[in-house]
Amino acid sequence: MNQMRRRHNSTSLSPHLPFGDRRDGPFYGKDILSVGQFRRADLQHIFGVAHEMREMVTRVGSFDLLKGKILASLFYEPSTRTSASFTAAMERLGGSVIPISEVRYSSVAKGESLPDTVRTLECYADVIVLRHPEAGASAIAAKHASKPIINAGDGVGEHPTQALLDLFTIVEEIGHVDGLTVTLCGDLKYGRTVHSLARLLSLFDVRLNFVSPEILGLPDDVSEELKAKKVPRSDHRDLDDVIGDTDVLYVTRVQKERFEDAAQYEEVKGSYVITPDTMARARDRMILMHPFPRVGEISMDVDHDPRAAYFRQMEYGLYVRMALLAMVLGKA
Ligand code: NCD
Repeated sequence: MNQMRRRHNSTSLSPHLPFGDRRDGPFYGKDILSVGQFRRADLQHIFGVAHEMREMVTRVGSFDLLKGKILASLFYEPSTRTSASFTAAMERLGGSVIPISEVRYSSVAKGESLPDTVRTLECYADVIVLRHPEAGASAIAAKHASKPIINAGDGVGEHPTQALLDLFTIVEEIGHVDGLTVTLCGDLKYGRTVHSLARLLSLFDVRLNFVSPEILGLPDDVSEELKAKKVPRSDHRDLDDVIGDTDVLYVTRVQKERFEDAAQYEEVKGSYVITPDTMARARDRMILMHPFPRVGEISMDVDHDPRAAYFRQMEYGLYVRMALLAMVLGKA
């Protein structure tokens, strides 16, 4: 964002809360566009705040840290979890939300450009969460906005807040990241959550297994980054090659909407299905994750397995997004 035009706001805060004015924090007034902007120390900081948020929600449900602040939630692509959890995060912190998820009912339908739309919304809001079908869209929005932009998924590009919540899930469930073997399975080509998570994991001492149909392998730019960071990796077609040595199994749906050729989607759509049989071959302490929506990759028969972490993962997303909003707005 344009730092020159940053404005300072002041709101009072209940004295008993472990949060307050933190305008010296590393993310105050900053955009969240890519996981490339995070170091390990940043993650520790974010997860510390997210953990506090979890405690606060458990104890009191909601509190007025962001009272008077407004989030504009601008979604040009469908969303359930990301939009609902950002809204819940803002409201649990006492702030409010301008929801624009039906862009066909906004001036976007009249041909308004993304820069004009974000420059309009920042007249009314303190922070903008943006999901857009084009990779790089949030960086363009950030160039034109003076208020922070949070990338909630830019086409086949990145989904940094999802990767943060994915990593937070691993930390909360397993207790550490170094030393783990993480297997990413499904659509590694178009799945933006995979791109962001693989990049974020490369900051740690991990082994990565990639399991996908041949045509849905990891994009070259992500592979290059992992190579530069010397991340040990192996690539497979068959999940059984690695299931027994996996600590975290991260499954994704095949991203139907990204395919140019519908017949090609039909060929690969049912490539992997996690069933109780699959889980019987997995480690006792493995966790099974999925960003959701699932469209058949994980059988519902697996849901009651304690290793199925995907619904807990959604809840962790609330705490991470509360932390990010508080930090970006200078309150944690
Ligand atoms: C993901 C997304 O939008 O990239 N969903 C989410 O935000 N939890 C994954 C997907 O759509 O498959």
